[in-house]
Amino acid sequence: MNLPGQNKRVLSGMRPTGRLHLGHYHGVLKNWVKLQQEYESFFFVADWHALTTHYEEPTIIEENVWDMVVDWLAAGIDPGRATLFIQSRVVEHAELALLLSMITPLGWLERVPSFKDQQEKLKERELATHGFLGYPLLQGADILIYRASFVPVGEDQVPHVELTREIARRFNYIYGREPDFEARAEAAIKKMGKKAAKLYRTLRKGWTEQGDEEALARAKMLLEGQQNITLGDRERLFGFLEGGGRIILPEPEALLTEAAKMPGLDGQKMSKSYGNTIAMRDDPARVEKVVKGMPTDPARVRRTDPGDPAKCPVWELHLVYATEQTREWVVEGCQSAGIGCLDCKGPLIDELQKEQQELHDRAQPYLEDPTLVRNIIADGCERAGEAAEETMEEVRRAVGTDYY
Ligand code: TRP
Ligand code: SF4
Repeated sequence: MNLPGQNKRVLSGMRPTGRLHLGHYHGVLKNWVKLQQEYESFFFVADWHALTTHYEEPTIIEENVWDMVVDWLAAGIDPGRATLFIQSRVVEHAELALLLSMITPLGWLERVPSFKDQQEKLKERELATHGFLGYPLLQGADILIYRASFVPVGEDQVPHVELTREIARRFNYIYGREPDFEARAEAAIKKMGKKAAKLYRTLRKGWTEQGDEEALARAKMLLEGQQNITLGDRERLFGFLEGGGRIILPEPEALLTEAAKMPGLDGQKMSKSYGNTIAMRDDPARVEKVVKGMPTDPARVRRTDPGDPAKCPVWELHLVYATEQTREWVVEGCQSAGIGCLDCKGPLIDELQKEQQELHDRAQPYLEDPTLVRNIIADGCERAGEAAEETMEEVRRAVGTDYY
């Protein structure tokens, strides 16, 4: 059968931050499960990335890694389809990151929004480090080493994928050209006349060195308006502009996870930092307890006071879990005070526990026999290592470190 995405690769990673919650499940993992059916998929534990911020806590990594992989498997990630691995076991990621660091201007990294944001947010940590500045560069290596077409990520990660594209472009530009390409391009520039040539050079520099998109657009316009150069030279100059030549590292595309934000127990987005989470594999008794403790529409002081679901965090969760029929029952019962809030929470607790039961069931064999998980990861690391090595052979040839 010819699937549309047959030869496209998907790659994504997660830092090992501990047990995953329902926000991860609904917002990220269900999407991975879908993608693994359509594409060759690589999913990995970004343990080195965890060290960029938590370098003083080496012991938390190991435990979090295995818990997280079990959560992935519980979510339905299928090791028969997707390749699951650990970043630090494919050391080629570090080699590529190092080589890319040679050509990555410091300014590109300093300008990534998460750099300053996170430094602000994690003030108690000392993050004026090379490793932390290089976080998105390492991420770029993670992606480019598999020549991934698609990178499913949340909104906050999109700038990292953008940076990855720029680094790929610059790498291809520097190492992917034919031997006489540059000389031919230089000759073509001169044919445009002094003034246009100078402007072209400035704009090209703005684009290739600073990633200035406006400069790129202006340079293209400049070329389009040139009367006195041949079509061949024009194409050459377009290629010269964008790093035409051989593509060693293809540019990836971010796949923005479109899933609505999963609401937490307090109506805010579910997040560990808000303390409003339900774990993917929580204890059923705890699920019942925390849902029963959820705040509701403050207008419902007494059982007989009518309420408005729009003002209630419980309703937000009903929107994720309830059937149409249950929703109607909630709206009617809430507005008419026909049901109490505990009644209203009943079907939600049932649905949550039902969903969790499936996750518990899928996790069970792995909890009983942890070597199953180790083997899945060992296999995945081997497969990932082979794919990474293929790219690295070309990369080493390109940068001239393939001599022996
Ligand atoms: N930075 C990502 C996050 O915090 C994790 C990550 C590391 C990643 N390398 C990646 C995601 C490569 C996608 C692709 O979520
Ligand atoms: Fe919220 Fe339901 Fe209570 Fe209405 S009845 S306030 S929707 S918990």
